[in-house]
Order: sequence, then structure tokens, then C-alpha cells
Amino acid sequence: MRKQTITKAVIPAAGLGTRFLPVTKASPKEMLPLVDKPLIQYVVEEAVAAGISQIIIITGRGKRAIEDHFDISFELEEILKNTGKDDYIRDLRKISDMADFCYIRQSQPQGLGHAILCAKHLIGDEPFAVLLGDDIVDNDVPALKQMIDVYERTPAPIIGVQQVDPSEVYQYGILDAKPALDELYKINHLVEKPSVEEAPSDLAVIGRYILIPEIFDLLEKTKPGKNNEIQLTDALNDLTALRTMYGYQIKGNRYDAGDKLGFLQATVQMALKNSNLGEPFKQYLKKLAL
Ligand code: UTP
Repeated sequence: MRKQTITKAVIPAAGLGTRFLPVTKASPKEMLPLVDKPLIQYVVEEAVAAGISQIIIITGRGKRAIEDHFDISFELEEILKNTGKDDYIRDLRKISDMADFCYIRQSQPQGLGHAILCAKHLIGDEPFAVLLGDDIVDNDVPALKQMIDVYERTPAPIIGVQQVDPSEVYQYGILDAKPALDELYKINHLVEKPSVEEAPSDLAVIGRYILIPEIFDLLEKTKPGKNNEIQLTDALNDLTALRTMYGYQIKGNRYDAGDKLGFLQATVQMALKNSNLGEPFKQYLKKLAL
């Protein structure tokens, strides 16, 4: 069998999570639970299911809980062992054994582009994946797996997109692109958070990317933009000028779990899918006089 080209994924998780204050004052947004797993575990599981073996998480102040979550907890395991709860130990070990984890601290939240640039020295000369921790995509074939399969056939930078309602385009990076082979769109340009009138399409960038190391050189040259942050979109537009780049329409239900409403929707969806909770939770919802 041919070896997969993409084995490393960067998960930027150093943002402030202001949309979720006050809960994010002292706790990472990425550790908010969907039923019984933190958001970032769903994203790591998606990456691992897509064949990723090295996970690079960009963290910042107040994010230590993320490292602890993916590490072995000897103390907890000892207590569980002594109280005969060995099943839990197996489940906990699965989390730390999933992949090789590395952490890089972004000393200040200087933007998504800057967060990705922090991983430059760990990526080297290979294409790599980027997954944002607050975009949860629920699908039988994981979103990143879909994109890696496309990359293996069409090796070019790929941005995950989904169609959004025109009333929502102002919240996203929007593609100016032409339909190409398969489910791909050849990108001309990306427009960051346009008005409905300015939006070139309804194809919105969601938090999954396959990038090439050239992006680092471009990020290094990118001047801080809005909020004094180094914007990934600016560097992606520079890359589009140099290389063919595609948008890929991701299949699956996507939730913006960094937003309160999106988070609640994702919670309901995951609870309904849960093998133990699904049925009683459904019965509970049916009883609500909505
Ligand atoms: P967001 O803007 O969605 O996340 O950034 P945020 O800043 O944490 O949340 P709000 O908007 O203030 O509520 C997209 C992703 O990029 C990461 C965030 O952690 C998030 O996963 N990010 C953003 C960084 O890692 N570093 C940054 O400087 C900015």
C-alpha cells in the first residue's frame, strides 16, 4: 500500500475565545465538553482517523488543561486501579496513545496566521493539515479524510468549504472560485468577511486546510492586518497567486462550536448520537413543550 503523504496536523488553540466569555476566562474553549469529550478531542480523533500520526497543538496562556488531557495521568490511573475501575483506565489510555503530541506556545494571540507560523520548524518540507478546534464536522467519512483523499489524487493546497446562507457570509472567508474537477473549486481569491453584496459566492471557508510549507515564507512576509493580527487569509491569497489552490466542499454536518448557538446545536447532535444517552435524551426533548 502507498504511504500517505500527509502525516502531520497543526491545531491552533491559542485564541482567547472571547465569544465564550466568561467561561473562557480561566479555561480553554477547546476543553468545553460535547457530552463527555472536550471539543479538541473530536478534532484530534478526526485527524487520527484521516491517518495523521503527529499532532502539533499551538497553545497559549491558560491552556495547560489541553496538554494534561492528552497526557497519561498516573495518579488518576492509580486511584482507578485501586478502586477496581480498570475499564476507565483503558479508555483514558486510548486518548494519550492516539498520536504523538507536540505543543508550541504562541506567546501572544497574534492571529491564526501567526499561530500556524509557530509550527514551521516542526513541519519541515512536507504538506500538512490544519484543523481548527472549534469547527466540529460530523460525518461517516471524517472531513479531513475526505480532503486527504482528494490531495492524494490532486496534490495542491486545499481549503475546506461549505455553502452557507447568504445572510451568514459576513462571518466567513468566502471563495471567489470556479468549479473544477470532482467536488473541487479552483480558487481565484478569498474575501474575508464580505457583506452579502460583496460576497463572490456562498462558499465559506471552514476550519480544515491542507497546506504546503511555502505558506510559512508567505506568512513571514504577511503584515499584521485587522486587530494587528497576522491573517491566514492574506497569506492564502498570496499563495493563490503562485500556485493552483482548490476549495473542496466538505460533506457532513458542521457546527461552529466556538459560538454559543453552534455549541448548543453540536451538543444536541452528539447527545442524540450517543449510544447510552441518545434514546433517553430524545424522549426528554420530545416532552419539552416547545
Ligand atoms: P477564532 O477567532 O475563531 O478563535 O480563531 P478565538 O480567537 O479563540 O475566539 P473568539 O473569536 O475570540 O471568540 C480561529 C482559531 O485560531 C486559533 C483559535 O484558537 C481558533 O481555534 N487562534 C486564533 C490561535 O491559535 N491564535 C491566535 O492568535 C488566534
